[in-house]
Amino acid sequence: MEIKRAWYKEMSFYQIWPRSFKDSNGDGIGDLGGILEKLDYIKSLNVDGIWFSPLYVSPNNDYGYDIADYKNINSEYGTLEDMKKVINEAHKRGLKIIMDLVINHTSNEHYWFKEARKSVDNPYHNYYIWRKGRGKDGKKAPNNWKSNFPGSAWEYVPECDEYYLHIFDVGQPDLNMDNPAVREEIKGIIRFWLDLGIDGFREDVINYISKVEGLPNGFPLPVMTGMEKYINGPHLFEYLQEFNEVYNEYPEVMTVGEVLLVNEKKMLEFIGEDNQVLKTMFNFEQLEGDCIKASWAHTHFMLPKLKKIYEKWQRALYGKGWNTLFLENHDQPRIINRYGDVNYRTESGKLLATMYIMQSGNPYIYQGQEIGMLNLELPNIESYPDVNSQTFYKAFRKFGFSDKFAMKRVHYSARDNARTPVQWDSTKNAGFTTGEPWFTVNPNYQEINVEKEEQNPDSILNCYRKLLKIRKENDVLIYGDFTLYYRNSKKWFVYSREFEGKKALIICNFTNKEIKAKVPKEFDLSKGTLLMSTYIDHNELSGNTYIAKPYEARVYLF
Ligand code: GLC
Ligand code: CA
Repeated sequence: MEIKRAWYKEMSFYQIWPRSFKDSNGDGIGDLGGILEKLDYIKSLNVDGIWFSPLYVSPNNDYGYDIADYKNINSEYGTLEDMKKVINEAHKRGLKIIMDLVINHTSNEHYWFKEARKSVDNPYHNYYIWRKGRGKDGKKAPNNWKSNFPGSAWEYVPECDEYYLHIFDVGQPDLNMDNPAVREEIKGIIRFWLDLGIDGFREDVINYISKVEGLPNGFPLPVMTGMEKYINGPHLFEYLQEFNEVYNEYPEVMTVGEVLLVNEKKMLEFIGEDNQVLKTMFNFEQLEGDCIKASWAHTHFMLPKLKKIYEKWQRALYGKGWNTLFLENHDQPRIINRYGDVNYRTESGKLLATMYIMQSGNPYIYQGQEIGMLNLELPNIESYPDVNSQTFYKAFRKFGFSDKFAMKRVHYSARDNARTPVQWDSTKNAGFTTGEPWFTVNPNYQEINVEKEEQNPDSILNCYRKLLKIRKENDVLIYGDFTLYYRNSKKWFVYSREFEGKKALIICNFTNKEIKAKVPKEFDLSKGTLLMSTYIDHNELSGNTYIAKPYEARVYLF
């Protein structure tokens, strides 16, 4: 299989969720000043770019994913001038910047929506999706769709005697992308930020933007009823093509779409190299090693299942489109709690890092993941700021589950797990703020923090640095084809990469035991170079194998 080299294929990204990254002025909220302070740290990870979760003006119903002004910075985070400084300083360090483009919906506090809801004759009314109520008295929602955050997807506005659609929170009305004026606004937003110097976008729930005409009822489900009527909708490709025309006016724009429920074939319709309207898309199946579709429906961790998922995507996209690799983001619980072992935090953290970064695709690392931050357990639902945790908790209770059961789910699955302040050092509030942090600092911060990780050459942090460095230095780790071995093993994740006569072999021990490594017959380890082990004091080879330490991962080059 031929594979084309391209600048974007070689990149790796660090994701910042600004509110919890670093506070520079003592108000307890992360900000651009804090980001500026930490650019050297980010650079030291050997990543090539930063993805910022939304920094725009927002009432924070969904912490920035509800935008009230797309062309300005939330004053809690700083000013547009501060943002220019961040872009500039990042570029000086060779880091690209991608921003979140949230265009499926706006905030209900956006000027467009404030106008739209005034009356059906308002020029902005048609920027959103409105329908009359059903039933004799019109008191029934226009259709049976449910929000992605449990609850109805419709809200009544008396001034218009109509309901508006919100696939997420009631504060996030869906834009009417079928209205050409809305698409012009979006193109204006894209140009605004690219003109300011950023290098691309992560596109929020981008495959939701085109809804089936007439908004028919969906197949009834406990959550997300209606999804088949708006996911991968009829005009999606067309609209993305239109936005892509704007990207093409600029050199080297990076794009990565957040898409839910997309299989490999569908994804290639958008990222396939012959018809690319987005460079890359996130495939969420790689987070289904411990759940059915979403972590709220969790199972125990199943290594064979995870391996098969990876293999499927590695094979399907290779040479045709470009993959993305990630284990965490601002919507996901911490990966060591999911695929790893909290009793072997460091060991399993390094194992997971090696397991995914050595595959084909752009690696994304979420803030705190690089130091092995863990989930948080708070005593009651009131302590969880995320609207999604609140609505899921309520849904569990509504279906008759006890508070104890619902809280257990929240502990495992809440997005808040990823949103606790980054733990920089062992001083008060983990060095995140000199004031009162906006959200609980994980009480484990004296054990787990950047300063401690820096001091230990064998830490998770230093493992991420090494992995990203060897990925940069070895084309086979970027462009190599993928082969999986021992598909059904519950202990081993072993795969190889191959490119232009070079091979790499990645051997991951997914047990907490010292065990003899399984090495595929066609490899002679004594003829390879050990590029890295996740243990500095690893065992020597004996014959064509070695005794792997608990959760040890190795990368050999041939
Ligand atoms: C995406 C975001 C998530 C947000 C949702 C609605 O899934 O990642 O944080 O709540 O879209 O914008
Ligand atoms: Ca601040």
